[in-house]
Amino acid sequence: MRVFNFAAGPAAMPEEVLRQAAEEMLDWRGSGMSVMEMSHRGREFMSIHEEALGDLRELLEVPASHHILFMQGGGLAENAIVPMNMLGSRKTADFVVTGSWSNKSFKEAAKYCTPHLAASGETSDGFTRAPRRAEWQLSDDPAYVHLCTNETIHGVETFDIPDLGDIPLVADVSSHVLSRPLDVAKFGVLFGGAQKNIGMAGVTLVVVREDLLERALAICPSAFEWKTVAANNSMYNTPPTYAIYIAGLVFKWLKRQGGVRAIEARNVEKSKLLYDTIDASDFYINKVERASRSRMNVPFFLADESRNEDFLAGAKARGLMQLKGHKSVGGMRASIYNAVPLEGVNALVEYMKEFEKDRA
Ligand SMILES: Cc1ncc(COP(=O)(O)O)c(C=O)c1O
Repeated sequence: MRVFNFAAGPAAMPEEVLRQAAEEMLDWRGSGMSVMEMSHRGREFMSIHEEALGDLRELLEVPASHHILFMQGGGLAENAIVPMNMLGSRKTADFVVTGSWSNKSFKEAAKYCTPHLAASGETSDGFTRAPRRAEWQLSDDPAYVHLCTNETIHGVETFDIPDLGDIPLVADVSSHVLSRPLDVAKFGVLFGGAQKNIGMAGVTLVVVREDLLERALAICPSAFEWKTVAANNSMYNTPPTYAIYIAGLVFKWLKRQGGVRAIEARNVEKSKLLYDTIDASDFYINKVERASRSRMNVPFFLADESRNEDFLAGAKARGLMQLKGHKSVGGMRASIYNAVPLEGVNALVEYMKEFEKDRA
């Protein structure tokens, strides 16, 4: 039996994608081989790669000015790869810190430059808001401004993306890419791990504007130098072929759902249902300001935390899995990525209402 999986990542996959991958596992379309057995430079895999790139460019509406790279290392490696590729002769980069992930990016950057904290979303309740552009205090000449547009642990999403003019905006979009349209032209760089809305762990997405490829530091490893990766169409070293194939199947699935605008409407509906349930009761609490509430990751607390284990056990008995909050925050977290169906959120809110009625 398949469960409803609310994990933060690796996370729920569209069932259709898993079935297709299973069907094609031993013999990909008459090739007599599994995709994982193919040469990355062979005709078959090249076609898989090109198709995935094309579909992603279409779904994300990536302009011709930006390259799409499939790399390795995950989101965290980008915390080093970004400064090594972006600093050039500058000594500072600016950070908007809205939760754990941007805080990690800020700290890692200190190995390469003197990072400047431009704004923080931390309040007495922890990270509960995305500071507006008017609150950002940029330094004089930053190499770039870093922002995590969806904080997976704290459930804080930035909806208003400013236009910074000549200053490149770098965004960690790991946990909400493809959940809503983004105006890619406003960003110098977007990056993210795949294991939430793109597919399986192992491939890292980087979207980078052409003119930013000239700034890498000499210490940047060649395999992580965007210019080299772009010049070799993500095949400077062996790419994570199977993860790229799975991403390609997810992109096709998303196109069948109607694309990013259609999935956004569903994500609005799913997240509203869950936040409305939380707000309608004193039994459940979410501390994030309404305008910054993530549509993908919904952390919540029981007013009586002594019932946490009871809540999780009852959820598990109904096939509602991985609802435990991140250890740094506690409580619960429901991650409701693109692949989590409305029925899953319905089942969760029904359970939450019953749990409240039975135990209140
Ligand atoms: C927003 C964000 N950034 C970065 C990471 C780290 O990614 P990885 O584990 O792929 O290095 C995560 C992981 O959950 C994340 O949610």
